[in-house]
Amino acid sequence: MSLQEEISKRRTFGIISHPDAGKTTLTEKLLLFGGAIQTAGAVKNNKIKKTATSDFMEIEKQRGISVATSVMAFNYRDRQINILDTPGHKDFAEDTYRTLTAVDSVILVIDCANGVEAQTERLMEVCRMRNTPVIVFINKMDREGQDAFDLLDELEEKLSIKVRPMSWPIGIGETFKGVYNLHRDTLNLFSGNKTEIEKEVIEIQDIDDSTLNDAIGDEDAAMLREEVELVNGVYGDFERETYLAGEVAPVYFGSALNNFGVQELLDSFVDISPTPQGRMSDQGFVEPENPKFSGFVFKIHANIDPKHRDRIAFLRIVSGEFKRNTFYKNIRLDKKVKFSNPTSFMASSKEIIENAYPGDVIGLYDTGVFKIGDTLTAGENFMYKGMPSFSPEIFKEVQNDDPMKSKQLEKGLRQLTDEGVAQLFTIQPGNRKIIGTVGELQFEVIQYRLKHEYNASCSFMHRSHHKACWMTSGDESKINEFIRRKASNIAYDKDGNTVFLADSPFLLQQAELDYPDITFHTTSDFKLG
Ligand code: G4P
Repeated sequence: MSLQEEISKRRTFGIISHPDAGKTTLTEKLLLFGGAIQTAGAVKNNKIKKTATSDFMEIEKQRGISVATSVMAFNYRDRQINILDTPGHKDFAEDTYRTLTAVDSVILVIDCANGVEAQTERLMEVCRMRNTPVIVFINKMDREGQDAFDLLDELEEKLSIKVRPMSWPIGIGETFKGVYNLHRDTLNLFSGNKTEIEKEVIEIQDIDDSTLNDAIGDEDAAMLREEVELVNGVYGDFERETYLAGEVAPVYFGSALNNFGVQELLDSFVDISPTPQGRMSDQGFVEPENPKFSGFVFKIHANIDPKHRDRIAFLRIVSGEFKRNTFYKNIRLDKKVKFSNPTSFMASSKEIIENAYPGDVIGLYDTGVFKIGDTLTAGENFMYKGMPSFSPEIFKEVQNDDPMKSKQLEKGLRQLTDEGVAQLFTIQPGNRKIIGTVGELQFEVIQYRLKHEYNASCSFMHRSHHKACWMTSGDESKINEFIRRKASNIAYDKDGNTVFLADSPFLLQQAELDYPDITFHTTSDFKLG
């Protein structure tokens, strides 16, 4: 098969949702419909429950599970579908943001009762930054929820994206009868059957067909006709280009738990979703069809066996063909490396692969060399433009509890932050280390892993910063002046970039007013150019 054919065959996407909206259930059902698993319940729920904060073994176990379910690939209608899992727990939001750099599109799951929730908004902001195409699945239609028109308004308002319903629900909760597919003119009747995959699809001529009345009754048919007319009037035609440009999100309604609307979603996904896309590098855009292999590491997962300390780096292939046992260049280290055991993540098994293509995610065993954001190429000197770092929200200073183990602590902190567990900043005087995270859970993970993997002990001292801001200005002297004035709130990130640790929203606003020539960024994405 040619490179072009391999590319055309692949679809790589992520499912995002607020916890409990049904991401795990939908993932499982997609695998079930794709024939990758035979029974429901096979995908472990990779949610880290709140109670896990004090149970380290539980965290470790969960981390183990999340390796297994990090990438799930399966074949459906001659396509290879790669689903990239995103952690649901909000403390791991940073992981999710990075995973979103490795997908070409996303499916957003919304609970029909709760609508758009806090985490959905943040995740969508990340998608909007990259114009990632989004399909929305409104889930749990078997339960009482909000009116469909209200939900669509809420989506547009809170997620700053236009929506286009592709199917329309008939009733909701107790009265839910099914959905009408607005494009295929089919009626999909709801049976509430959790175990069977097949469902009844009724072909109808058009919305005025009397078959509709026979299937759902006169009253519901009349209501449906009225609503469909309104939908078509309000939302206009669906144009695939606007979806691919990340401007319009097609919306489907269903119930993942009841296998309802899932096949329709999967079929539409296969029809409209983008093939693997290229990525921007510091030397320009790299197309997937470029025959020379290149890719980037977006996730590093430590092995659960502390004695080995080996890790799996997840590499997204951007261009060309990856081959086993071939030397590739790690651009950051300017070093050639080859991999004898690269693995694929087919949902049914994890196996060693000989080659892989754009859109694929492969697992590379690593002994601590890789860093999140690393670029591998066939020899060309360019770098993918890095992973975005988002400003942490919790900051703590590291106190070394065992001065005899300073080296180990240093190494442990470096490696753990290379893995992306948290961000590391250095502040003067005394090269003090500050760890920044989005959730409390990371501090426990860091403490635990430092002890078990590096034999180092530390405790944390709270620091009351609000945000870490990267700075840019057309006039470097302004930044230098700012650094002098705010010395006690200036730190350096791992790449040596200066950051301003603002103590409160007010002080950040004040800095912006006092220094209008400086732009304060709460994500490092500005480096992406
Ligand atoms: P998440 O990964 O987004 O966090 O959500 P998950 O799939 O775990 O689903 C959260 C809860 O919602 C689960 O119930 C799940 O069974 C339920 N659910 C998912 N889809 C539907 C649906 O279409 N209809 C209804 N009524 N419920 C749905 P749970 O009780 O929390 O967990 P479990 O004991 O069922 O695993």
